[in-house]
Amino acid sequence: MECFVSSPAETAIDTSLFAETESLMRRYLEREASEDVTVSLSPEEAARVTEIDLPREGVGEARALERLRAVLDVTPPTAGPRFVNQLFAGRERVATIAELAAVGLNTSMYTFKAAGVQTLIERACIERMLEKAAMCGGDGMFTPGGSLSNLAAMIVGRNEVVDGAGDLGFDGRKRVIYVSGEGHYSINKNASMIGVGRENVRGVGADSEGRMRPELLADAIAADRARGLEPMMVIATSGTTVMGAFDPLEDLAAVAESEGLWLHADGAFGGTALMHHETRHLLDGLERCDSFTWDAHKAMGVPLTCSVALTKKPGLMRKHFDETASYLFQQDLEDEEAGWLNPGLRSLQCGRRNDALKLWAQWQCLGDRGYARRVERQLELARTAAEIARQTPGVRLAHEPRWLTVCFEIEGKSSEAICETLTRKGVLKVGYGVVHGRKVVRLVTVNPEHTPADIERMMNDILDVGERAPAGDNTV
Ligand SMILES: Cc1ncc(COP(=O)(O)O)c(C=O)c1O
Repeated sequence: MECFVSSPAETAIDTSLFAETESLMRRYLEREASEDVTVSLSPEEAARVTEIDLPREGVGEARALERLRAVLDVTPPTAGPRFVNQLFAGRERVATIAELAAVGLNTSMYTFKAAGVQTLIERACIERMLEKAAMCGGDGMFTPGGSLSNLAAMIVGRNEVVDGAGDLGFDGRKRVIYVSGEGHYSINKNASMIGVGRENVRGVGADSEGRMRPELLADAIAADRARGLEPMMVIATSGTTVMGAFDPLEDLAAVAESEGLWLHADGAFGGTALMHHETRHLLDGLERCDSFTWDAHKAMGVPLTCSVALTKKPGLMRKHFDETASYLFQQDLEDEEAGWLNPGLRSLQCGRRNDALKLWAQWQCLGDRGYARRVERQLELARTAAEIARQTPGVRLAHEPRWLTVCFEIEGKSSEAICETLTRKGVLKVGYGVVHGRKVVRLVTVNPEHTPADIERMMNDILDVGERAPAGDNTV
C-alpha cells in the first residue's frame, strides 16, 4: 500500500525560496538606497514595462519571478531616504525580519490550536499597550489598520450606548457622532458602516493649533438635542493627520461624561507619543476615554499593517465580536472567558495574519527606552524642519509642530505644484495638506534613520523647487 508519510531523513529542507527572496530584494534595496526615490511612471508606462495580465497557461517559476522582478523595479520605494509623504517610513530591521518570519509561518491568529504561542505574544503586546494607555485590565484586538481599529471601537461604542444594537439591529438615523473637523476620514466612512450615516457626523471646530474646541462640542450636542437627535459618541483625535494636533482629552471627557456619550480617542498617528516623557502629556485624560486606536505601523516603524483597538473596560471585544463556529473554535474554550487563547472569538476577522510578532520583536529589541529615544529623534527632525521654515524669508510655518508633521508654504507659490514637481523630477516624495484653509507642504518626520542634515537637504530641495515654480495660490 502506498504511504504518503515520509520519514524525517528523506525530507529535504528547501530554503531556496529565501535565497530567491534575497536576490529579489537585493536589487530593490540597491535602488532604494541609490535615492532614485520616486519612480514617477504614469499608469500606462508602468503597465508597459511590466507584464501584468494574468495568463491562461502558467509561465512557470522562472518567468513568473522575472515578471515579479520587473514589478519590483518600478514600485516606488517607501522605506528609502527620500520618502516623507506618509505617516509611515523607514524600515526597522528586527520588525522586518519578524514580519518575513510571520509570512513563512503563515499562522492564522484565530485559535490557540492553530497559532500556539503566537496568541500569547499578541496578548502581551495588547496588554503592554493597554498599560501605556493607562487602561490596564482593559481589552484589545489587532486590526488591519487604524481605519478598522476606529471601526471596531465605534461598533463597541454603539453597542454599549444603544442597548441591543448589535443583536436586534439599529436605526441610527437619529444618532450623532462628533469629531473635530481635523479628524480622519475613516470616522465618516465608519459612521456609514455602523448605521449612523455620514450626515450624522458633526465636524466640530478646532482652534488655531488644530485641536477640537470643547465648548463648540458642548454647543453642537445641545443643538442636536434641541432638534430631537440623540448624541452617541465623541471621537477625539490624538495626533491629527495633517497638523499632528492632540485634542484636549480631559476637557472632552468632561463633556462626554456629563452627556453620557462614548469617548474614543483616535491615536492611530499620535498613540506613539505615549512612549516619550515629553509628549506623554499630550494624551493626558486618555484614562477617561472608553476606547483608543494606536497604529504601530506609523510612528513605531513596524511594517504595514499593525494596529490595535483598545477598550478601557475588560471583556468588550468578546462581548461584541463573539460568534460560535463548532468547526473552528474547538479547544481551550470552557475556562477562557475573555477569549485570549482563541482571539478569533474577539476579532473583526476570521482568518487573520499575524501582525503582533513584528511589533513584539521590535519592542524586544528597543524596549521602552529605545522607543523613547526613537521618538526623541523623530521630534528632533520635526524641530529641525520647523526651524528652517521659521528662519527662511518667504516661508510661512503654518503651525507650531507638536508632533511629527511640519506644515509650511512658500509665499506666492502653489504647494501642490511644488510637491508634484518634486515627485516628477524624482527628487523627493512629499505631500500637501490643508491648514487654516490653505494648501501647505506637509513634511513627515517619522523616519528616525534621517539625520537633521537629511532634513536640511530636503528642505533645500523643496525651497529650490519653490523658488523656480511659477506664481500660484494656496487658497482652498
Ligand atoms: C488620525 C488617523 N486616524 C486613522 C488613520 C487611518 O489609519 P490606517 O491608514 O492605518 O487605516 C490615519 C491615517 O493616516 C490617521 O492619520
